[in-house]
Amino acid sequence: MDKYKFSRRTAWPRETNALDRILDQLRAREARVLDLTASNPTGCGFVYPEGLLTALNSPENLRYRPDACGMAEARQALAAYYARQNLPVSVDHIILTAGTSEAYSFLMRLLADPAEKILIPQPSYPLFQFLLELNDIHFDYYPLNYDGQWHVDMQGLKRLIDDRTRAVVLVNPNNPTGSYINHDELNALNDICRTHQLSIISDEVFFEYALQPAGAVSCIGNQPVLTFVLGGLSKTLGLPQMKCSWILGSGPEAALLEAFARLEIIADTYLSVNTPVQNALSPWLAQASAIQGQIMARVRENHKWLSAHLNKNTQLLSLQGGWYATLRIPAVKSEEEWVLEFLKEDHVLVHPGYFFDFTGEAFIVLSLLPEPAVFQEAVACIMKRLGKI
Ligand SMILES: Cc1ncc(COP(=O)(O)O)c(C=O)c1O
Repeated sequence: MDKYKFSRRTAWPRETNALDRILDQLRAREARVLDLTASNPTGCGFVYPEGLLTALNSPENLRYRPDACGMAEARQALAAYYARQNLPVSVDHIILTAGTSEAYSFLMRLLADPAEKILIPQPSYPLFQFLLELNDIHFDYYPLNYDGQWHVDMQGLKRLIDDRTRAVVLVNPNNPTGSYINHDELNALNDICRTHQLSIISDEVFFEYALQPAGAVSCIGNQPVLTFVLGGLSKTLGLPQMKCSWILGSGPEAALLEAFARLEIIADTYLSVNTPVQNALSPWLAQASAIQGQIMARVRENHKWLSAHLNKNTQLLSLQGGWYATLRIPAVKSEEEWVLEFLKEDHVLVHPGYFFDFTGEAFIVLSLLPEPAVFQEAVACIMKRLGKI
């Protein structure tokens, strides 16, 4: 072992933390844990249409017809799915990938050389650091500020740009703040990115889950700058296990052509999306509303219940969409101490704000996907404990 060398980029700290240790102890005792971090839709009691599995049983699946960008029929099904939402997507500007992480990696490889920089939002999705490190890319956080609504701090973002910056990542709506970009912000971002020749990567995996759909602005078809929108089956159909995501491109024609010519070679090197899923995409997307309807109803019900059962010490931050709710709780203890106490005393598991790189304390993040009985019981425990302050 001593003689083997491993890359510096994979020398991550791997110690288990106090929360993991308590969770392991509780699970070893077979104690019942109320898990408000649960965000895997396949474990949250949704009823998937029976036809989903039938669509996999096709003789076409015995034929391999590799296409680097994804099979034409699958890309046409995606373009049709977005056309039904009045979002223009060209079949030639779609690349299928095996999950959103792979889509991010392809784009990082396309846009930046080692040690160049991508800007990512804070707070946001905790996987970014790993994805960036694995691709040898540096990053800076640009702030999202809260004043009753979440806003991108455009001045803060602008100050971070230097000659090594290559792209800005948007998460739209953001995980976990549930905030969508608005028209003014997108215009401002386009101005900044056009001036500095930066691309936009807009992660819209949760886009369909808006509490008020009329207010949701997508970057699909964004023309002023090179733009890559990410979506995937894990949220659009609640099927993370099917491992299929996509990159939708738009922007100035020459840059877009060059980008897709290069992306096609990256994708051709892996050919990672399996055939059965691509053959099933058209019938599956036709059933999207059956799954999205159930998930949206669950999110609304849990959000409504949470709003109605806050105590005077707790603030529910305003939410426009997505699957998570953020609570500001009294900073008389650290987030770490609060989440350990919820788990130890009440057997309720929540994410601390620092997991998503919130600046300042104390925040906790709850998944809105758990079944209402579990969600309500867990929230009642949290409120009771916070009510004792
Ligand atoms: C913002 C965001 N993007 C991407 C993903 C992952 O998607 P996938 O399962 O397609 O890799 C998640 C998962 O929770 C997410 O929160």
